[in-house]
Amino acid sequence: MEKKFERLRPWTTKDYVRTISWFAIHTVIFVLGFIAVLYVNAKFDFSVMLDFIQSDGKVENLIYLIVAMCLISLGIYLYFYNENRDFLYETKNINLIFIILEISVAIMFGVGKYMVYARPFALCALLALLLMDKRTAIFMNTISCFLMFMIDTFLSVNVLESHILYASLLVGFSTSVLAIYLVHKTSSRIKVFLMGFLIAIPLIVSTVCLEFTAVMKNPLPFILAGFTSGMLSVVLMMAILPLFERIFNKVTDYRLFEITDHKAPLLRKLRETAPGTFNHCLIVSTLVEACAAAIGENTLLARACAYYHDVGKLERPEFFTENQSGYNPHSEIPPELSTDIIRSHATDGEKFIKQYHLPQILADVAVQHHGTMPITYFYMRASKFSESALDIKQFSYEGPKPQSKIAAIVMIADACEAKARADGKRNHADVDDIVCEIIEDRMAHHQFEECNLTFREIEIIRQTITNALSGVHHDRVQYPKLKIGGDKYE
Ligand SMILES: [Fe+2]
Ligand SMILES: [Fe+2]
Repeated sequence: MEKKFERLRPWTTKDYVRTISWFAIHTVIFVLGFIAVLYVNAKFDFSVMLDFIQSDGKVENLIYLIVAMCLISLGIYLYFYNENRDFLYETKNINLIFIILEISVAIMFGVGKYMVYARPFALCALLALLLMDKRTAIFMNTISCFLMFMIDTFLSVNVLESHILYASLLVGFSTSVLAIYLVHKTSSRIKVFLMGFLIAIPLIVSTVCLEFTAVMKNPLPFILAGFTSGMLSVVLMMAILPLFERIFNKVTDYRLFEITDHKAPLLRKLRETAPGTFNHCLIVSTLVEACAAAIGENTLLARACAYYHDVGKLERPEFFTENQSGYNPHSEIPPELSTDIIRSHATDGEKFIKQYHLPQILADVAVQHHGTMPITYFYMRASKFSESALDIKQFSYEGPKPQSKIAAIVMIADACEAKARADGKRNHADVDDIVCEIIEDRMAHHQFEECNLTFREIEIIRQTITNALSGVHHDRVQYPKLKIGGDKYE
């Protein structure tokens, strides 16, 4: 619902032409795919295929089918244009939508040649669920079932009896919707694998009801087909998903769980090389996650972005306060050089994230989390030694400013955590002052102009960070000091 009030990316005539052209290309692929299906059905004999098309008025059916494919493409376009226009804007997303449909229908057709009820009915729905969202998965599932039904109807003289055709449609549609709700909240790939068995159960039950007479004669093929369908859907989805994650640069919840594991290679390196920064990232992640939950953003993605926002500090960890224990190397170098070292952690973060083949969104947040803010401390230090006024831009981060709500939350939470730690402020009122000051400072520097953060959301973020940060930096009980042999132990 919230998306309705968000600023949508403006579309030019070129964008309409580009997106519609890609839909036209995929509609042609659909039709060519259908001709390939006919060719396979004719056992790879072209003359048999032509005879099949020309018999029983099939030519009219073929024209009808081509028109139907065009109408389905139009329906898909209208759905995404109205429900998720920004998603449709990217050409790679259009390819993703159609490749999911094409692969799923092709596999279902191939398996259906041997056993109709063993088709991986839920494959399209599961891929769409994990690479897009729940609502789109239900829509894509409807389209894939519809396409399969059309192909079955066209081939029904040779392949299927009509009651199996309807049963296949009903079983496929209903079990896929169930699969969407079962897998929606599942947090690991292993649990999804187990879901394959769960999906099989309603599939078998509905098949038994629809094919009662045949099941009574010999139930084993139907039971085996049900389990094959459930397991095939899940296994194929898990095999295809990593490819799609890489090719289309998509971030699924499974990928997010994997990369936020403390044993993930880059996080482990951060913990071992810059433990201070690692702990800072953990605290920032709790703040960012709470804010993301409060304004309806993806909490898992927010956590991942917070974990990796400062990985650029790995390049020179000793130059950052949280990793220093007494000695400060900045005291021996000019403030201009210090500024270069400090601000390069944003771009170094992007470099490390790409080097470790992590999702692009993490690199975006790493490079944006300080926006174009000035590094005031070194600007002031340099001003002391300079007779003329210095250009503040020479002492500022290079940006860009946060481009997403999550990047803006990381920016605020990061600065609040660092300042609360540096000031040693712990009580609610002091922390609230810090959070207000940080937000006002960033607003004065126009840092939130390129993301869709609203004033209401900024207020929610302020309250959430204040509550969470005063919880993190809670007052500790002061223990009495104990003197043993003149030494002081606390
Ligand atoms: Fe940073
Ligand atoms: Fe940070």
